[in-house]
Amino acid sequence: MLAQHTFLEKREDQFADTPSSVRPTHQQIRYPLVDPQEIFREAREYFHLFHHEHGTSQLYQEHLNEIQAEIERTGTYWQTCDELVYGARVAWRNSTRCIGRLHWKSLTVRDLRHLSTAEDIFEAIVEHLRTGTNGGKIRPMMSVFAPQMPHRQGIRIWNPQVIQYAGYRLPDGSITGDPSNEELTTVLRHLGWKGGAGTAFDVLPLVIQMPYQRPRLFELPRDAILEVPLSHPDYAWFADLGLKWYALPIISNMRLEIGGISYSAAPFNGWYMGTEIGARNFGDEGRYNLLPVIAKAMGLNVRSNRTLWKDRALVELNIAVLHSFASHGVTMVDHHTASQQLVVHQACENKAGRLMPADWSWIVPPLSSSATPVFHCPYQDVTFTPNLFYQPTPWQADPQASLEKQAYYGAGAT
Ligand code: ARG
Repeated sequence: MLAQHTFLEKREDQFADTPSSVRPTHQQIRYPLVDPQEIFREAREYFHLFHHEHGTSQLYQEHLNEIQAEIERTGTYWQTCDELVYGARVAWRNSTRCIGRLHWKSLTVRDLRHLSTAEDIFEAIVEHLRTGTNGGKIRPMMSVFAPQMPHRQGIRIWNPQVIQYAGYRLPDGSITGDPSNEELTTVLRHLGWKGGAGTAFDVLPLVIQMPYQRPRLFELPRDAILEVPLSHPDYAWFADLGLKWYALPIISNMRLEIGGISYSAAPFNGWYMGTEIGARNFGDEGRYNLLPVIAKAMGLNVRSNRTLWKDRALVELNIAVLHSFASHGVTMVDHHTASQQLVVHQACENKAGRLMPADWSWIVPPLSSSATPVFHCPYQDVTFTPNLFYQPTPWQADPQASLEKQAYYGAGAT
């Protein structure tokens, strides 16, 4: 689970004008490998791990020789379905910002590398929505589309998540909806989207871009999107706020890297931890900013910080989120349980002879942090591969990148 913290945003500022070569690795965009030797080195590492963890080390050397020959011949190589599935699971295991990694072995991986049109990819994503949602009993799932070839553009899904709420800037400067999607909403309008009903929860269309083609817009079918209306177990007025959130967070803009091969479109989901919605999406001043609304409805004195009105509003908001998801039969974990599960996961990893790398500032929940065990643990934030990496925003040029790299990403495609 990737729970973004304001803490981290502050830390990023601190590195804003540090040269990229000395910035901590997790802040950088790592570009796909193109050099056959580098691809081979990564492949060697991955196949070593793959055979070691499958107890088939006697097969490793011969396997590697075959891969080496294929890379020499073609500049890249094709992974088997098993190699892809295991790599995707290990990418989750290596995601230092995710508190939900205990479940890494249960990731369902769909090998969809054969799909070659935006329409087919869209249909597959809708299918992912339905089977991942599973009527509320959420299944962790990843859909892997064709890999990005060296020196070529890759398939891109422009939306950061498959389901996202629009953020509309109004003439008075205020925003209706999710402020974090204001730019995406504007970009979609430029691409021809007519706009939604104008509510605070308008689902954005999906943008899929095939290599060297124009981005294409697709409306998600309403019946594929499960949403949970929020209510509070003790405050009847809470339901009247008209809040809701979607059940399935499918991250769709990250690059999966396995053994030197890049999958630029590999949308994946887990289930929500309550605080992602209750503390961050609804609580952050730069998001739905609901703490003042809730505190006032609770009758709290919001003029003094010392009444801890923000803290009290946060707790009730998070109770409402957990209560509502549970009463609608939608999988969700609370931050205490998730923290305990990461501690269990760490013990399993250590028992398997592995270090569990983690990014403390993302792992520690944004609510009651010190009441969770992870707050008290030091972690080492090391980047192992396979892993998931950020990619340049498709509609923005990356000034750090070489012209050749900018060309791969179709910079300024709008
Ligand atoms: N924090 C993001 C959100 O609120 C979702 C990130 C992924 N979370 C997860 N539980 N898998 O939408």
